Amino acid sequence: MGYDMLTTQRFVDEVVAQFARFSIDQGPPGGLLPYDELVQRVGDCRALLPTSVDRVDEGVLEHAPRLDVIANVGVGYNHIDVAAATRRGIWVTNTPGVLTDSVADLAMALLLGTLRRLSEASEHVRHGQWRENRQDTFWGTDPRGLTLGIFGLGAIGQAVARRARPFGMGIIYHNRHRLPPELESELEATWVPFTTLVEQADVLSLHVPLTDDTRGRIGAAELARMKRGVSIINTSRGPVIDEAALIQALEDGQVAGVGLDVTATEPEVPVALREHPRALILPHIASATRGTRGGMMRMALVNAAAVLEGQTPPPNAVNQPAAR
Ligand code: DGY
Repeated sequence: MGYDMLTTQRFVDEVVAQFARFSIDQGPPGGLLPYDELVQRVGDCRALLPTSVDRVDEGVLEHAPRLDVIANVGVGYNHIDVAAATRRGIWVTNTPGVLTDSVADLAMALLLGTLRRLSEASEHVRHGQWRENRQDTFWGTDPRGLTLGIFGLGAIGQAVARRARPFGMGIIYHNRHRLPPELESELEATWVPFTTLVEQADVLSLHVPLTDDTRGRIGAAELARMKRGVSIINTSRGPVIDEAALIQALEDGQVAGVGLDVTATEPEVPVALREHPRALILPHIASATRGTRGGMMRMALVNAAAVLEGQTPPPNAVNQPAAR
């Protein structure tokens, strides 16, 4: 028996109810669909709705003769072999926009939390070490007057710039292509070459997709060029940073603190990183608000439905599949 759609995680009931015209097979309640099970079940569906934790590679696609669309629940799609899907005539879509504010909010939370040493201070209380109200402990850094370097001034990077300005931060950014001058002046953001970004930022915030070009882009050489005492915020993808080099830079004080929502081999985080007092690390939750996660599921279902109902291209296509 075939299904119209397969989700790899449980979707919110109210959202699924809006798509009752489709038969939807869902991942296990409160868990993930293991890769082997995905391979077994994908053959029965026409639309697959994965998330960033699913590897959708040739191994999955060769078991998916009925598949017409991979409607990713998320904006980043580096976990999907888009070239292989395109060759096989399968649409790939994502969910841009709906999570921009949530991710930007969390990037600011990490930025402020890193500057104000919240990880260390919170651990201090949690471990019962708070015995006296000393005036000389946990001094952090005010954002006012600092230079925020944004690597990747797309929708999320721009939302971070808009939030950082009222905190008195100056904004520099690097993109391969400069933004139009009107947008630069509205954001009060100055384009700089990548090396200048790395050298001048007091806080570096990463908002680039993971591609061959960005993998390991923040490595030992870049970390060494940064200002001593820089803070690094990452809400994009963990492998953009060479994690071993980052740990070294934290240990020797070159990097003052990191605020990471993503790590290179999540959910495994090296002990030296997760136990570092100046590392504020979250389990990839930037889009995890009730409204946003529900909105992402809905958007993915809309994309999938469009393909199944013959309305192509679907609203958020990231490829143009080969004719079948
Ligand atoms: C995204 O949308 O890419 C977020 O990282 C959630 O996975």
